[in-house]
Parts: sequence; C-alpha cells; structure tokens
Amino acid sequence: MHQDEQKALVAKEAVNALLKQDPPFEILGIGTGSTVNLFIDALAPYATKFKGVVSSSQASTERLLQKGFTVLDANDVMSLDVYIDGADEINPQGIMLKGGGGALTREKIVASMAKYFICICDSSKQVVVLGKFPLPIEVIPLASQKVTQYLEKLGGVVSLRKSKVDSTKVFVTDNSGWILDISGLHITHPQALEVELNQIPGVICNGIFAQNKAQQLIVSSHSGVETIRF
Ligand code: 5RP
Repeated sequence: MHQDEQKALVAKEAVNALLKQDPPFEILGIGTGSTVNLFIDALAPYATKFKGVVSSSQASTERLLQKGFTVLDANDVMSLDVYIDGADEINPQGIMLKGGGGALTREKIVASMAKYFICICDSSKQVVVLGKFPLPIEVIPLASQKVTQYLEKLGGVVSLRKSKVDSTKVFVTDNSGWILDISGLHITHPQALEVELNQIPGVICNGIFAQNKAQQLIVSSHSGVETIRF
C-alpha cells in the first residue's frame, strides 16, 4: 500500500473513532499536514454534528471553512474534547517530534487545550529514538543567530528553514517566526530537552511534544490499521 493510501486509511479510522464517541465530542482541535488534510476531508460530511473546531494553522483553517466546519477562536473555548494531529516521528511512549509543516507553536497550544490527543500517521513515523527527522525550533527572527549558536552546542547541524516556494527566501510561520531545523540529534531524554530548549531567549517553541504527548495512536502499515493507547 502506498504511503498516501496509508494516510487515507488512518484518516478514515480516526473519523470512525470520533463518530463512535458516546456522549459525542462537541469541540475538536485540528492539527496540520497532509494526514490531517485527509482527516478533514473524511470528516467533512459530519461537519455540522460538531459545535466547532479550533485550528492549529491558517492552512487548516482555510480547509476547514471550505468544508463547512465552524472554526472557533482558541480564546473563546475553555477546553477541547480531543485534538487530532499527525507527527513527523512518534516513539513507543507517544512522545512526538512535530513541526515539519512549520505549525508547531499553534499545534502545541491547541494540543494543550485538549483532554485527549489522538495522533494519526503511517508506520514510517514510528521510531524508537526521536531525532532522525530534523527537530524544528520556532524563533523570534531577531534571535536566530544567537539561538543557532546555542543549538550547535547540542551537537546537531542547524539550518534556517527556507520557503518551499522560493528557496532564496526564509520560511515565515503563521506567527511571523522563523524555523531553525536541527539534524543529527539522538534524543534519548525528550522531556528534559523540551524544557531546556524552552529556556533559550528568543525560542518561541520547539517541536518535541513530550508534555503534550499522544494518548492514542492510529497508525497504518501495509498490513492495515492499528490503534495503540499509551
Ligand atoms: C506540521 C506537523 C505535521 O503534523 C507533521 O509534519 C506531519 O505531517 P504529514 O501528515 O504531512 O506527514 O507537525 O507542523
């Protein structure tokens, strides 16, 4: 089965899981990325069953509005029944590395509002140790050089993310931040590293989701879909 088919399969399974909830979920948190896009499309026929959704990016917001969902402002919502998002890597404890799409800060905020985090991905994202995928750090542009120096001491190679549309331009996040990607890390203590990175002046957010880890993973492989609870 092709990776896109595997993503579509988990998206469908996540929709089935949500629709089975009793009492029904009312307000959902929605992540960002290609797997989430398929999830939004699969959930679209049931859009009006929900009071609303809180989105983690401008890209997801546009798609949700197009598909007929009511998109709520995070400030108008006390808590979310569930947050659904993809991941770039997930370890056997449900700790994730995220931010490949650059939406890590809003993803972490919306995830922190939810009672339950369901991660949806294909099995290529399952790892034993996080760090093969470059770890994204969103920074205030002014601090980019200073933060790079700090991050280089961790032993990885740091690069400033460039726009996918025009590689001569810097990638700018929905929060007007820049992203530093650290490759070559072997993250054996994700909880501690998440806290350490948050202490660096100029860092807005890092892509380790240990404090806001997944409680459930819906994952697909060549042999089908599996649900794992952490
Ligand atoms: C975006 C993310 C995504 O969840 C992550 O990049 C996975 O994306 P995809 O479903 O396209 O593989 O963290 O910031």
